[in-house]
Amino acid sequence: MNEIKYNLSRLRGKIIAIDGPAGTGKSTTATLVAARLGYTYLDTGAMYRALTYYALKHDVSPSDSVALGKLAAKLPITFKNKGDINRVFIAGHEVTEEIRTPEVTREVSEVSAHKGVRDAMVRQQMEMGKEGSIVAEGRDTTTVVFTHADLKIYLDASVEERARRRLIDLTRMGVATNLEELKKEIQRRDDFDSGRKHSPLTRAPGVIVLDTTELTIEDQVSQIVSLAMDRFR
Ligand code: DC
Repeated sequence: MNEIKYNLSRLRGKIIAIDGPAGTGKSTTATLVAARLGYTYLDTGAMYRALTYYALKHDVSPSDSVALGKLAAKLPITFKNKGDINRVFIAGHEVTEEIRTPEVTREVSEVSAHKGVRDAMVRQQMEMGKEGSIVAEGRDTTTVVFTHADLKIYLDASVEERARRRLIDLTRMGVATNLEELKKEIQRRDDFDSGRKHSPLTRAPGVIVLDTTELTIEDQVSQIVSLAMDRFR
């Protein structure tokens, strides 16, 4: 029998980076891939969200690049991963749910577009990933933060499908909205994230593109785990 032997120690220290627009299932997929490989999950979007949440709470305007850059450099954002639960903290205070409100979602693209903010966040993310054994996910993890990642993935899906998924999530959270509004919101964020001057969302050379429109989360996870097993063999 032609059995493929995976050497599990070869998995150690590797970096998997996953980028793509909102609503492609990046967070859930990255969380589950990390849990399956015994890696740490790094949700870079949660860092921009935590900064946005903190700024809004302390009356720092989303357009104030100087104040936001300074804040980003000193805001102590930490994570606690356990299985498929990823908790987010600012200075030890949990903000896991607060960073997902529609208000934060509305403002986060503008906050994350400032160069000073990006530089500070990227520095922290590089530090968090320096030991490897990490699945990082966001908009620039394949193009800026972990250009040396061992596996780079770009998740994509139609706007229609992404809005439908978001509607299910928000309805579950008790937020009143509708599909047309969500399509507009997703399109607006796509345009902003892809059109910004600093680190726009784009496909890195050598990235593997997975269109998830017709895929289940389980399909996405098992495809990425297989790619990792093959590549790190
Ligand atoms: O993945 P998310 O929806 O939680 O990300 C929130 C926002 O943060 C998104 O609109 C763009 C920004 N972001 C970014 O600019 N760079 C990243 N690496 C991750 C997210």
